[in-house]
Amino acid sequence: MCGIIGYVGGRNARDIVLEGLKLLEYRGYDSAGIALVEDSLAVYKTAGRVRELNMLPKSDAHTAIGHTRWATHGRPTAANAHPHLSFDGKIAVVHNGVIENFAVLREELAAKGITLLSDTDSEVIAHMLALENCDMTEAVRRVGERLKGAATFLAVKEGEDKIYIRRFGASMAVSVGEGEGFCASDVLALSPHSDRAIVLGDGEYGVLSASGLDLFKDGRRIKKQPILIRCSPPKDCACHMSAELEELPEALQRTYDSFKNFHIPSELAGAKRILLVGCGTAYHACLYGKLVLERETGARCEAVVASEFEPDANEGDLAIFVTQSGETADTLSALHSCKRQGIPTLAITNVAGSSAALEADSSFLLEAGAEIAVAATKSYCCQLLALYLLAKKRAGHAVEQSEISEVKRAAREALDAVAYEERLMNSKLFFIGKGQDYITAREGALKLREITYRQADAYPAGELKHGTIALMDEGAAAIVVATEERAKCRLVATVEELRARGAYTLAVSCVGEIGADKHILLPRMREEALAPIISVLPLQYLALTASLTLGLDPDKPRNLAKSVTVI
Ligand code: M6R
Repeated sequence: MCGIIGYVGGRNARDIVLEGLKLLEYRGYDSAGIALVEDSLAVYKTAGRVRELNMLPKSDAHTAIGHTRWATHGRPTAANAHPHLSFDGKIAVVHNGVIENFAVLREELAAKGITLLSDTDSEVIAHMLALENCDMTEAVRRVGERLKGAATFLAVKEGEDKIYIRRFGASMAVSVGEGEGFCASDVLALSPHSDRAIVLGDGEYGVLSASGLDLFKDGRRIKKQPILIRCSPPKDCACHMSAELEELPEALQRTYDSFKNFHIPSELAGAKRILLVGCGTAYHACLYGKLVLERETGARCEAVVASEFEPDANEGDLAIFVTQSGETADTLSALHSCKRQGIPTLAITNVAGSSAALEADSSFLLEAGAEIAVAATKSYCCQLLALYLLAKKRAGHAVEQSEISEVKRAAREALDAVAYEERLMNSKLFFIGKGQDYITAREGALKLREITYRQADAYPAGELKHGTIALMDEGAAAIVVATEERAKCRLVATVEELRARGAYTLAVSCVGEIGADKHILLPRMREEALAPIISVLPLQYLALTASLTLGLDPDKPRNLAKSVTVI
């Protein structure tokens, strides 16, 4: 959940690392820091955002490492921010992950008279490296072997224009250029400098210098081929979430084009049971995937929240992992347990070279374009489209460009619909739907909670009368999603029941009016299964507008990070 980055070479390391940290900030933004290899090591840290580091003095260092944090151990203070220095001040370390045995390591260090200056688990790495009486690359191997849990780190040493790298449990990519090298938690931060990256695997470690990368595993030198980085840095903009929503029609087209070149794994055709696994918004996409795959193909499907996943492997199982970042720890852990049990795996992800893309037996790339805002928007819609295309393909039906053009046109209309009303935010808010619309309702409620910090829940229409309707009165408001003709009567009845109890109702509908106080009417889709791509848009916009109206930063909501790389 943190972002780490390093540069070594002929250019100004301070400036390159600061720029890179800005691109990584979506991974965590409660504190930040940088270490520069000058005559001695210079370390600057802040409890604020990366921009606070712009104040630090100019430097002509050629080597630097940086960190942007999402706190796990210790509050977001300057002392707990990375880099951490070793007791002798000669080694600086930035770390991404959680060291599970840090309490033991801390005690060992205390017994040697080393007092830690922070509450973090990460600081132990710097001291342990300094205690190893050997070559730094070997020290990295030895220390790495003693760390339990996720421990991807970068280290620099006084007097050396080199960056020592170790990956375990959190992603790390390296780009090597003419007389320079870059390393970072994800390829997006490398994309301004190179279109290629070497993606390190767990247990790999090495040293990066102006003359290249020396990579090792288990004490042996290894060679790895770079992969193509299929992303470009996002343009500077005031609000990424808004820009990402606006980009949806083109993103959907890219997902469709990407699917044309995708070879469906043979296991999908014969799968007796399809497991769909993801977290948060990606889990909602899994719920949709289950619905559309069952409807289109009759296959037995189960959608599971990744952190609750406990596979019981059966003959004919296939597991699909839906993850925008491809780095979500819960999702990767579920993927690893499937692999251990021999279940074929397919990843649907937006990031080429991500752990999910590399580790699953096959992967489909959404090509939605970089998504920086913590709240997933366009990636969710592209995940729905990918799952729809997958279901159709397995059912033996081709999806024509004309269908995609219709969705793009409808998306454009839906993006212009205004769902925000002050009274919604001043009420107890409920999101209601049935079938595929209940999934959209859940996603709408999650988006609102995530970026406005307001309580909002989602319920299936028919379930209200079993308890929750007791909450309905003049102080309640319900957003009712309606995209399926067959569910219309049920939703009309629900709206009536809500209004009878004084609740204000707003309908987001592709099937005409349903008797609500206000209607946002969206185009009726030829293929109703595609409507959730459209009906979620006013809900995403509602959350965005509410967040901005409350004076919050929708791109960087409190306590969250784009990619949740801890379990
Ligand atoms: O990168 P992933 O798709 O695996 O992320 C999964 C969730 O953490 C993510 O969808 C989260 O729920 C979003 N911030 C919601 O907007």
